Amino acid sequence: MYMCLEGIDGSGKSTQTALLEKWLQNCGLQVFRIFEPTDSKVGLLIREMLQDPGATDENFQRTLALLFAADRTILMEKIAHAESEGQIVVSDRCFYSSMVYQDGAEWIGEINRFVRKPDVTLLLDLDPETAMTRCEGSDSFEDLNFLMRTRSRYLELAEKEGFFILNANNGINKVHEDIKRVIAPKLGMCI
Ligand code: TYD
Repeated sequence: MYMCLEGIDGSGKSTQTALLEKWLQNCGLQVFRIFEPTDSKVGLLIREMLQDPGATDENFQRTLALLFAADRTILMEKIAHAESEGQIVVSDRCFYSSMVYQDGAEWIGEINRFVRKPDVTLLLDLDPETAMTRCEGSDSFEDLNFLMRTRSRYLELAEKEGFFILNANNGINKVHEDIKRVIAPKLGMCI
């Protein structure tokens, strides 16, 4: 099973994927935890490029979309391998991040043609003002605007694709409990 946590920056995906991994391991399951951009050569290039002040430029975003798709295509083999060994795949971001951040146009789907969608996607939905306080260095009106736009794209996509929407404004423990409540029945477990 391939499960993914999505959400705007500051929504707590990395904390929650780590807690989810620990819980599944404590239940005796083998977990393959991943994140996007990955630590492949392409993923490292993406991280470097994201630091560029021109990263919001339209053509730059197109280039990034291609790189994200390449990074993800490499990742697919690793996911298939982990699953063939009976591991549960827990991912911090997936194809849906490209749909949200790189505008969701048809060609984004096309370049991600060889990419599998997760079996379960959970959206950690956080209000943008709170996200601002959690993201270091974000304090401008544009940052807030960007977070608001990103959040509404996530909510739209959630409806279309059937994500589980969780309130990420609640504390870490409550969000973790909510995640467990969604995942447990998928794996035939009780909590
Ligand atoms: P993020 O999860 O914030 O990584 P970290 O917290 O480890 O730095 O991802 C980095 C950024 O990449 C984030 O702002 C969202 C962006 N992103 C895209 O724009 N498109 C994508 O397809 C993916 C996977 C990420």
